[in-house]
Formats: sequence, C-alpha cells, structure tokens
Amino acid sequence: MAILKVVEYGDPVLRAPTKEVVKVSKKIQRLVDDMFDTMYAQNGCGLAAPQVGESKRIFVLDCATETHPMQPMVFINPVIVKKSGVFLSHEGCLSFPGVYIDVKRYAHVTIRAKDIKGRPFSLTPEPGTLLAMAIQHEFDHLEGILFVDHVIDRFGTDEILKAHHLPTIEPEMILDEPELDEGLLAMLSEAESGQAAPAKKSKASREKSA
Ligand code: NI
Repeated sequence: MAILKVVEYGDPVLRAPTKEVVKVSKKIQRLVDDMFDTMYAQNGCGLAAPQVGESKRIFVLDCATETHPMQPMVFINPVIVKKSGVFLSHEGCLSFPGVYIDVKRYAHVTIRAKDIKGRPFSLTPEPGTLLAMAIQHEFDHLEGILFVDHVIDRFGTDEILKAHHLPTIEPEMILDEPELDEGLLAMLSEAESGQAAPAKKSKASREKSA
C-alpha cells in the first residue's frame, strides 16, 4: 500500500496510449491498491492508471455520497458499449489540481469491464449521476483524452488553467461532438423558453475530482 505521485496536465503520459491488462497479476492488484490509496489521499472520486504514470487500461472509482452509498469499484480493460443523451457536467480532475469546469457528457452510458478478480461485469448507472460522469471521465484517461477536451467555454477555461499555473487548452485536442452540442443547445433553449427545468448540473459539483 502506497500513495503514488499523481502526474499533472502537461505530462505526456496523460496523452500516451494504454495497454490492455493480460492477467490480473499480484503486481496489478498492488497497483490497484495503491491507486485507491492515492485517490483517497487526494480526496478524489476516481483515478486512472495513466494519472500515476502507468499506461494500462485500469481505473478505480468511489462515487459514494450520503444519499447514494456504493462500493469502491475497479474497471480493468473497460469498454463503453452504449452512450446517449447529454448533460452538463461540472468536473475536476486530480491531474488539474483546483480546476473545476463545465464539460459536455453523455447522460446514459453502459460500460463493460473486468473486476479485480478478472470477472467480467456490465454497469449502467442512473443517467446524469456522478457515477455516469466519472465512468466517462476515467475511461477517457485510458484513451489519452482529458476533461478539458470536452470544454464548453474554451477561453474562460484557459483563464482558469492559467490561474492554476497549468498549460492552456490544446485546441487540436478539443473533441468534435456535434451530437452533444445539439443536445445541449436543445436543452438550454427549452430551459430558456420555460418549457422545461433548467439544464441540470451534475452533483459532481461537490467538487470531487477524478
Ligand atoms: Ni481525471
């Protein structure tokens, strides 16, 4: 059990390709234990292996809240098999200390992965929850994608990044997400015309980072 160093935005390992885990060996189990220790030490709700310098397809989550108890979870070689809908997510990331911004996310997501014993499982969290957000955020880390790549307000975010002495947005990394853009626009215009409740922000804004 050890607390590992969390790498910060700007470190190339966060953009590097990750390798599938062939066998859940003792070494992998130790890495997972250390990832939990590191995540809890930083008061985070999720952590992906690249954030501790390991280019492996592993992430851990603990999205328990007062109202939604949940067991800590390990995702090995995860695959997102379904995604739809949209929500505006207020997120942080342990590799961006102190930075919280609004990003675009899918509301519904289904993920398949293996647990710490190598057993396959499938999970479909309630739409628009902290868990739904965290799964997408951590899965992205395994693809070399960072939450700022889903940014809504690029220049506003640059100001926040500068204030935290982090590199600014890499414009070529911003994702083209027409489906999410359209969904978000429709949601906001409905809210403005009073036909629906304002765009719901995720409760990730308890300012927990992943
Ligand atoms: Ni993160």
